Amino acid sequence: MLGLVKENRFKLFLAMCCMFVVAATTAASAYLIKPALDDIFVNKDSRMLGLIPMVIVIVFFVRGLGMYGQQFFMSYVGEGVIRHIRNMLYNKITDMPLSFFHEEKTGNLMSRITNDVNIIKNMVSTAVTGALRDFFTILFLTIYTFVLLWKLALFAFVILPLAFYPIIIFGRRVRRVSTGWQEAMADLNSFLHETFSGSKIVKAFGMEEYEKERFFQKTQKIFILEIKTVIAKSLSSPIMEFLGGIGIAFVIWFGGSQVISGHLTVGTFMSFLAAVIMLYDPVKKLSKLNNAIQEGLAATDRVFDIIEKESDIVDPENPVTIKTGPHHITFKNVSFRYDKDMVLKDINLEANKGEILALAGVSGGGKSSLVNLIPRFYDVTEGAILIDGIDLKDASIKSLRSQIAIVTQEPILFNDTVRNNIAYGNPAASDDEIEAAAKAAYAFDFVQRFQDGFNTSIGELGGRLSGGEKQRICIARALLKNAPILILDEATSSLDAESEMLVQKALENLMKGRTTFVIAHRLSTINNADRIIVIVGGRIVEHGKHEALLAAKGEYWKLHNMQMSREKEA
Ligand SMILES: Nc1ncnc2c1ncn2[C@@H]1O[C@H](COP(=O)(O)OP(=O)(O)OP(=O)(O)O)[C@@H](O)[C@H]1O
Ligand SMILES: [Mg+2]
Repeated sequence: MLGLVKENRFKLFLAMCCMFVVAATTAASAYLIKPALDDIFVNKDSRMLGLIPMVIVIVFFVRGLGMYGQQFFMSYVGEGVIRHIRNMLYNKITDMPLSFFHEEKTGNLMSRITNDVNIIKNMVSTAVTGALRDFFTILFLTIYTFVLLWKLALFAFVILPLAFYPIIIFGRRVRRVSTGWQEAMADLNSFLHETFSGSKIVKAFGMEEYEKERFFQKTQKIFILEIKTVIAKSLSSPIMEFLGGIGIAFVIWFGGSQVISGHLTVGTFMSFLAAVIMLYDPVKKLSKLNNAIQEGLAATDRVFDIIEKESDIVDPENPVTIKTGPHHITFKNVSFRYDKDMVLKDINLEANKGEILALAGVSGGGKSSLVNLIPRFYDVTEGAILIDGIDLKDASIKSLRSQIAIVTQEPILFNDTVRNNIAYGNPAASDDEIEAAAKAAYAFDFVQRFQDGFNTSIGELGGRLSGGEKQRICIARALLKNAPILILDEATSSLDAESEMLVQKALENLMKGRTTFVIAHRLSTINNADRIIVIVGGRIVEHGKHEALLAAKGEYWKLHNMQMSREKEA
């Protein structure tokens, strides 16, 4: 954090200058009480009567300017630091591997970028400013009181060490409660994210009351934490006030007796008392500052927890760039697990240049997991995957992924126009290219029917797109990428038999000359693949051409028969 603050050295220096001005003018206003009382009111000096009010006006005006300046420059630094931290967070999160997104809840991550960073902002722009300004003010006023009456000043300062004790104790508590509060907020955020995006299921299963109850429990928890924070934060006030009262009473008692015995003028004493009162104010504020800092540090922990995470899927030191062109892919004794159990076991597979490989098998067999290894969404646990003889781990990830077009099992579109969704990853594409891709994916006709055609935003459409329509836009997006490796994971599963046949034709045209991995439950869509790989329980149990596999009467034959009888029944 300090490193980030340091980048704004110059602005920080200006802010310090302004704080210096504020502190100096504060001390000066305490000093002015002495001539005002002694010269004007006691000695009745009329020259001073004209001079002192003028000086007071100037001092307060300069003080105001100083306050404005320090507020502006510190906020500038604070907001700059916050922007920087937000960008760092987003950079980091975006570069994290997929597994990270499976572990962390979306709402939780959002909460770090919005909530937690805001708390840090409060620390940087309010607390740090306050701390620096109050530091100077305390310094100047202290010097002034000691210069004026050092014996009396000693008395006034006896209570200071006592004042620091509650500051530290309550600060610690604030930090602890604040961490709990931030976690509760993050939890609330992910709850909102889930129940709003899953509102259809909430309604379909009649769970509105249940979700409301869960939400009330969460707000109740936050309420209790808020109250605990308030208690920890405000308990320091009565203690600080009490100590302040003792100090001032002492000064009046001791100073008053000095004035009565004639050792002190009224002006000197009042000036001293004013300085002490002014001094206690920033000292009292120190406890509030400490609270803001403790909260900020708790948030900093959570934010830097993410920023300091190391991605385990990163480029090697000297990454090999994968050149464009047809590719040969080899799986060598590949085993893979997400966490506990092996999902893929000892996979050996060759995909030749331009070959179409189909993956078939029962649900949960590991087909999606296998293709997810090719773009390095996950790293193999054992063995290696080679592309043109280069281990994926030695290749530049960017160049590797530029060679792959994917249609995933769930269609994912962004809140942008249909055009931009199709041109995602290829923003330079011309209108003709975009339309050609849409036509090939049989998306052109229905997109044309939207009010604004290709300029219609997906968000405006809301939930209006059917599953098959979404899938066809996703296919158009993959077609436009025009990459030499193609991965189709149930790309046509939401289409009816007829449109599937049409899209299938488009895909077949596209597959020519490309190394393709197709996953499909409907076996009719893959029976003209060059080779069919049957995966059961994470192992390749069979491979070969459609006819040969049927003749072998193994797993594929079983799957095939099941589907045939189901279709006949239908
Ligand atoms: N992110 C994940 N974390 C942990 N386990 C996972 C994860 N994704 C999938 N799995 C597990 O890995 C196994 C294989 O899943 P995978 O999605 O590869 O199957 P699949 O063959 O594609 O199935 P389907 O035909 O239903 O899509 C399953 O047991 C699944 O529970
Ligand atoms: Mg799958």
